[in-house]
Amino acid sequence: MWERFSFYGMRALLVFYLTKSFMLGDKAAYAIYGSYTALVYTTPVIGGLLADRLLGFRKAVVLGGVLMALGHFAMAVQNVQVFYVALGLLICGNGFFKPNISSIVGRLYAPDDPRRDSGFTIFYMGINLGALLSPLACGYLGERFGWHWGFGLAGVGMLVGLVVFMRAQPMLAGIADPPPPRPGARATLGGLSWEACVYIATLFAVALAWQLVQHAALVGTLLSLFVIVVLIGLVVYMLRLEDKTARDRLGVALLLTVVSVVFWAFFEQTGTSMNLFTDRNVNRSILGWVVGASQLQSVNPFFILALAPVFSALWLYLARHRLEPNTALKFGFGIVLVGLGFLALFIGASTSRRTGVVPLFWLVLGYFLHSTGELCLSPIGLSMITKLSPRNITGLMMGTWFLSSAFAEYVAALIAQLTGVKDGGNIAAVLPKPSETVMVYGSVFGSIAWVALGVGLLVILLSPLIARRMHDVR
Ligand code: GLN
Ligand code: ALA
Repeated sequence: MWERFSFYGMRALLVFYLTKSFMLGDKAAYAIYGSYTALVYTTPVIGGLLADRLLGFRKAVVLGGVLMALGHFAMAVQNVQVFYVALGLLICGNGFFKPNISSIVGRLYAPDDPRRDSGFTIFYMGINLGALLSPLACGYLGERFGWHWGFGLAGVGMLVGLVVFMRAQPMLAGIADPPPPRPGARATLGGLSWEACVYIATLFAVALAWQLVQHAALVGTLLSLFVIVVLIGLVVYMLRLEDKTARDRLGVALLLTVVSVVFWAFFEQTGTSMNLFTDRNVNRSILGWVVGASQLQSVNPFFILALAPVFSALWLYLARHRLEPNTALKFGFGIVLVGLGFLALFIGASTSRRTGVVPLFWLVLGYFLHSTGELCLSPIGLSMITKLSPRNITGLMMGTWFLSSAFAEYVAALIAQLTGVKDGGNIAAVLPKPSETVMVYGSVFGSIAWVALGVGLLVILLSPLIARRMHDVR
């Protein structure tokens, strides 16, 4: 909860910080946002692998938390280069943190424990409690009193998270401990323990991320190559599995992970195009009180919290009547729902062309539909990874799950750039009138809607074929 508090508090402010403090144009801001979010979800592959092989989950999570706390506090310094270093720290920190905290949840349950999906639902609610509170708090401080207050509060949140995690160690009863050394493996590299090598390499990785995040196109190319290498590696691993059932299951996990890219690429407009659309084109006054656009980033997590128990109960109810949709079908529903959400935004924009000011209702309806879609896909995906992957590569597979988000974030930024309406410079001077911008957003949202509906329906049609290969896993 606290880690996501810091992550989403910072993220809610990020495009505003770039466009209003650094005075970047929309496209440039989206490019940096896209490289940051893409890299932030790329590093989990490496962080997951290192935890599987060397560090164990606890050390990885603590290291990640420390790096991220440093990153958030560095964000509070208003200087361009410090800002990029801060992003580098956050990128590397998240790599150690995000996949491994999720894998710990999976380890809490025995392979056939029916409570696993519910466990992930509770975990997901924790994530979203953090994501709900922080745009309200950090967004308020950042937009009203100064960016550094908002970013600083995010850092405090991360520190609280670290303390909570350390204090809870006895409850984990060994599941987060480092793995036993592999028989025959060398204990050191040039006299240094492997663990020390990881820490040193991390410093280099921060420096690399600091530089990379400033070059969106390069991030895109490298990320695409990385995705290809990881996918080929995993497919080869899969084909060499002796057991046909295990092979099929891993194949399904990989396929659905690839499918999830479509969902996230659209869903993740939240922090970019939807955020600026909210700022510029949505009527944000509620009972005479004008809410900051960054604060409306809380609407999605609010719905997740409210609806997660409903969805959990729904799946259980359907399971009791032998009607529970399989994982692939749920993924199809998720993509259709995100499409319907964008359809709502499209209708809202189209019917407000004259004034360019869209009633809040449409934004909230859009977020509502996105959130229902997210509940069909995201927690289900996490649970799927821990159920369908061979145990010795769970960390890596969890990282690969987030890699789909990474690639999606990159694509999402490219999509967001289609909505760019402001060039660099002082925002008050160069921002066009709402009636001129509303359909720039609206038409992109409309196109997203049609593509999502098409892809979602296709996945729904194919779902029986996919589900058969999960064998008896539900
Ligand atoms: N919103 C969820 C989280 O922050 C999932 C994000 C993702 O997988 N892209 O954990
Ligand atoms: N709904 C987003 C996620 O679960 C915030 O983290």
